[in-house]
Amino acid sequence: MTREIKVELAERSYTVVVGVDLLGEAGRIAAASAGKPDRAVIITDSLVGPLYAVAVAAGLSATGCRCETIDFPAGEEHKNLTTYGSVMDRLLSLKPPIDRRCLIVALGGGVVGDLAGFIAATALRGLDFVNVPTTLLADVDAAVGGKTGLNASAGKNLIGAFHQPKAVIMDAAVLKTLPPAQLDNGLAECVKHGVIRDWSLLDFIEENAAKFVAADVGALAELIGRNVAIKAAVVSDDEREAGDRAHLNFGHTIGHAIETAAGYGAVSHGQAVALGMIAAFHIAADRSLIDSTTADRVRQILVGLSLPVRFADLPDLPAAARDPARLREIMAHDKKNIDGIVRFILPTAPGSVATFDDVTDDHIAAAIAALGS
Ligand SMILES: NC(=O)c1ccc[n+]([C@@H]2O[C@H](COP(=O)([O-])OP(=O)(O)OC[C@H]3O[C@@H](n4cnc5c(N)ncnc54)[C@H](O)[C@@H]3O)[C@@H](O)[C@H]2O)c1
Ligand SMILES: [Zn+2]
Repeated sequence: MTREIKVELAERSYTVVVGVDLLGEAGRIAAASAGKPDRAVIITDSLVGPLYAVAVAAGLSATGCRCETIDFPAGEEHKNLTTYGSVMDRLLSLKPPIDRRCLIVALGGGVVGDLAGFIAATALRGLDFVNVPTTLLADVDAAVGGKTGLNASAGKNLIGAFHQPKAVIMDAAVLKTLPPAQLDNGLAECVKHGVIRDWSLLDFIEENAAKFVAADVGALAELIGRNVAIKAAVVSDDEREAGDRAHLNFGHTIGHAIETAAGYGAVSHGQAVALGMIAAFHIAADRSLIDSTTADRVRQILVGLSLPVRFADLPDLPAAARDPARLREIMAHDKKNIDGIVRFILPTAPGSVATFDDVTDDHIAAAIAALGS
C-alpha cells in the first residue's frame, strides 16, 4: 500500500510517496512532479548507484527524458567542497550542456540528499530536484524539510541552503540491502519523533522492533509513513527553523557533543542521539518538568532497540566523549546557539517538548555524570 504525505509550504509544497517496491515507478513520479523535464541527472554514491540507479534511470527514460548518472565515493567524509566541485564540474560538462529545465534526482542516503540537493540549489542558480532516499535515516529525517548542504573544515553542515524538493519517493524495499548498523541511526530519530510529537509512536516502535531489525518492509513502510507525517507537519509550521522546528533537535545538543568528542565514526549518530535523549530526560527530571515514569518508558524503548542508554553500553567510546568539560566546550560552539546561549529541547509531557535557554552548567554536568552511572 502506498501512502502519500503532503509537505504544505505554499508554492513550495510537495508530496512524499512512501511504499514498497516503488523504485520502478520513481522515474515516472519524479518526472511528473517536475513538469515532465526532457533531461534528468541522477546523483548517487558509489554503493547505492550500482544497486538502484538503473531502475530509476529506466523509469525516467520511459517518460522520454534523457537521463545520465553521476556518482561520487560513498561516505560522510565525501560530503565536502571537493566532492561538490567535482560533481558540479561533471554536471556542467555534460554534452549537450544542461539548462535550467534539467531535473536533479538524488538517489542515496542523507549524504547524497544533502550534497545533490545543494548542487540543485546552486547549479545554474537553482534546478528542480527530486529526492529518492535509500536509508532509514534519510527517509524519516534528512529527505524531508529542504535542508541541503556540506561539511566544512570548521564543522559539519556549515555550508548549505534551503531548497525544497519537487517530490520525495521512499521505497522501503531498498532498506533490505542497508547494513543493519545503519538502521540504528533512523530508529533513534523515530524515538525522537515519538517523544516530541506522538507518544503512541513509541508503542508501535516497541511492538515492531524485531520486524524492523529483520527488514520487514511492510513494517518499515508504516514506520516511515508515521515519521514522515510528523516531520512534514513540523516543517510545514516552521520551514526556516525560526521556532518549533528546533524541537527536532531534541537529544542532539549533548548527542552532537558526544559524537564530535568521540571523533566521527567512533559512535554512530543514532547511538549519540540515544545518549543525548537520556541526558535531556535527566535534565527535565531535575527541573521537575516530567516524572520518572515518562523517562523510564523512553529508556525501555531504546534498550529494546539495542541503542545505548549509558556510557557503559559503548565500551569503546573514547574518554573525551564522556568528559563533561570537553562536551560543554563543544556545546558552547554549537551553530544552533543564539548569543552564545546553549538551547535545550526538553520533554514537558509525553509527546511534547519545549525550548529552554536557561539550562545551567550544573544541570548539564549532572546529566552527563548520570550517563556514566
Ligand atoms: N538535511 C537534513 O535535514 C538532514 C537531517 C539529518 C541528517 N542529515 C545528513 O544525513 C547524513 C547521514 O545520512 P545517512 O545516515 O543516510 O548516511 P549515508 O548517506 O552516508 O548512508 C550510509 C551508508 O549506507 C550506504 N547506503 C545507503 N543506502 C543504501 C542501501 N539502500 N543499501 C545499501 N547501502 C546503502 C551509503 O552508501 C553509505 O555508505 C549526514 O551527513 C547528516 O548530516 C541531513
Ligand atoms: Zn539526528
